[in-house]
Amino acid sequence: MKKKVVVFSQIDPKILSQLESKYQVAQINPKQGDINEQLLREIADADGMIGAGRRLNQDNLKTAKKLKIISSVSVGYDNYDVEYLKQQGIWLTNTPHVLTETTADLAFTLLMSAARKVTHLDSWTKHGHWTRTAGVAQFGQDVYGKTLGIIGLGHIGAAIARRGFYGFNMNIQYHNRKPCIERAEPLKAKYCDLDTLLSTSDFIVIAVDLNEQSKALIGQAQFEKMQKHAVFVNIARGSVVDESALIEALENHKIFAAGLDVYQKEPLQESRLFQLENVVTLPHVGSATAETRMKMANLAYDNLVKALDGDEPQYIVNK
Ligand code: DGY
Repeated sequence: MKKKVVVFSQIDPKILSQLESKYQVAQINPKQGDINEQLLREIADADGMIGAGRRLNQDNLKTAKKLKIISSVSVGYDNYDVEYLKQQGIWLTNTPHVLTETTADLAFTLLMSAARKVTHLDSWTKHGHWTRTAGVAQFGQDVYGKTLGIIGLGHIGAAIARRGFYGFNMNIQYHNRKPCIERAEPLKAKYCDLDTLLSTSDFIVIAVDLNEQSKALIGQAQFEKMQKHAVFVNIARGSVVDESALIEALENHKIFAAGLDVYQKEPLQESRLFQLENVVTLPHVGSATAETRMKMANLAYDNLVKALDGDEPQYIVNK
């Protein structure tokens, strides 16, 4: 009898048909209201699960009787109860590395857009406000040669730092749980404590994993420390930042601008952020290029198949 796989988000049609040729597949419609009931029903006899963007915890996994693997099509795994999965002997796998450069590109896109008011000025131009030469209200901030502060010098943080160092002659400083000499040295990146980074960087980029230590790491007190011309970018997870404090800092021009890809609650449907001109809001698309999403889907597929074939997958989060 074929093993059963639950696909819990949209997945590339090629991967879906590969799955269908090997397994009995149940796809959960991401928009369906009774998702939990359907999920509980489908995973009761599932051997594997693959997908992204859905919170899977003890509650909605309690019916799983023979689940062997959850193969997440993401590098981040804050949606899963890692400890519980470990206790249950269920592998959790992810898709690191293949999305590093793509996500770093997006971080820089946000940084540049927020610094040069790109989305605001685009809308300004299209709405016919360009009646005379752009003036002070349309001026942005220089990026070249400025100080870039990265919080979290992991693979993605380092890829962002490389763009700043090689592409824009920026001084790089970073804060991390501990110094990362190997990544930092070629970029002449200086390790500093969080407060120093916040108060001396022109650009601040959040690139840490979401975990107990990084939750709400940046709140009101931290925004108070930033310079008035600072540009703040978050491509990591929304919950690393206290969103109300960020909104307050933007509304009161305590910082110059922000570029955001992630939010405390996603999808972001209503927010005071939408009223602000000094923020660029993207819908969590850090890794969303056709090539990279395909690579992630392939990797997640390989992780799943390996586990269901009885082999050890390549990227196990909870080994
Ligand atoms: C990831 O892979 O974790 C990205 O944030 C997309 O979810």
